[in-house]
Amino acid sequence: MKILHFHIVTLFPEIFDSFLRTSLVGKAVTAGLISVEMVNPRDFAVDKHRTVDDTPFGGGEGMLLKAPVVVEAIESIDDGDRRCHRVLLTPQGRLLDQRQVTRWVHGSKHLVLVCGRYEGLDERVLAFVDEEVSVGDFVLNGGEVAAMAVVDAASRLVPGVLGNAASAHNETHQGGLLEYPQFTRPRAYRGKGVPEVLLSGDHQRIQRWRRQQRLVRTRDRRPDLWRAFRCSADDAELLSEVITSEENDGKQTRPNSGSTATSGTYIALVHHPVYDRDGRIVTTALTNLDLHDIARASCTYGLASYFVVTPLQSQQELAQRILGHWQKGHGARYHARRAEALSRVRVVATIQNAVESIAETEGRTPMVVATTAARRQGQIGFEGLTRMLGGDQPLLLLLGTGWGLSQEILDQSDKVLCPIEGPTHYNHLSVRCAAAIILDRLLGVREEH
Ligand code: ADE
Repeated sequence: MKILHFHIVTLFPEIFDSFLRTSLVGKAVTAGLISVEMVNPRDFAVDKHRTVDDTPFGGGEGMLLKAPVVVEAIESIDDGDRRCHRVLLTPQGRLLDQRQVTRWVHGSKHLVLVCGRYEGLDERVLAFVDEEVSVGDFVLNGGEVAAMAVVDAASRLVPGVLGNAASAHNETHQGGLLEYPQFTRPRAYRGKGVPEVLLSGDHQRIQRWRRQQRLVRTRDRRPDLWRAFRCSADDAELLSEVITSEENDGKQTRPNSGSTATSGTYIALVHHPVYDRDGRIVTTALTNLDLHDIARASCTYGLASYFVVTPLQSQQELAQRILGHWQKGHGARYHARRAEALSRVRVVATIQNAVESIAETEGRTPMVVATTAARRQGQIGFEGLTRMLGGDQPLLLLLGTGWGLSQEILDQSDKVLCPIEGPTHYNHLSVRCAAAIILDRLLGVREEH
């Protein structure tokens, strides 16, 4: 039987009293599956006042925990050859996650949790711990609450602590995914029901639905976890089913972007009418790079759709074949995120078709804003356009391929956006670079300083 021993170095052992007697942790202690021992640095103070803190060298506010009392408390826990794994809880540590907790439970029998207190700790203590960990980007009065979080999260992974071994398995963050939604009686509550599949009794369908929910929730709520998650072929297939049904429902792929400025924003890559190098109006060929990269940018900035405008049937078919490969074929199984991005692409024959499609979805004709690399009178700036986003009127941004959109399109558009310019005379950005820069200027999240 695995027993996990915690040793908590704290000046306030009494904080843990009711925590260690209550609920699952209390049961785990009673069942002998975990043990928790308190070690008080004050017991290692040598002066008659049992001093544990002192003022900082160099001056400054507050008191610091003294190195000798903490280090000696930590070292007292080792027993002969037994050198325990030592974790210092501090807001300056690495952010704790489920993977780290799992590693501790599997890798250690004895875990030392050192709780900082007061305004800080003599820096030299760090040489006597194995790692520094924070439980979140906020400052607690000390490490005790953080240590409780570690004991709580770790003990539920000790075999036998949770009644049903499977329940630790499906939980949030296990396997890098959030948990699926759960429901219990009553079946209807304040007009809200329970998903039909959960009442179907079809175990296989329920399992599939739950896995799908975990994937979609993680994708929509926690981009950080989603980026790190490795989608298996089965997961990619489950996800592509969801994407297709979201599309059929006319829903945004990311439900939580529905109310932002991006939800009514569209982009179109125009292959006709555009200029060639000699100023003639031509139809350009589509490229795989533009298809993928602008789809990825559109997805990143939460655009509703990305229109590829070409009147040539052979080019439309080519676009559909590429999209099919990544959305339904081998590509979808191999790369679910690419399928998600490409699901936003719509192939249309004319700009007018794109405008009509948006009007049908949004119930309002979009404001059409053309882009160009040239300066001309009356262009709207990025700030001006940003201010117009998020209102009632949808926006369609037109990007020209080749040597740019025809004069006729510029004249017919509601507005023409200022060119993107660098500090040099050279101005030959690829259309996909321009798309990314424009989207970031209009919709990018700016760090606060
Ligand atoms: N001590 C104070 N704040 C803390 C935090 N966020 N995580 C771990 N220990 C802490």
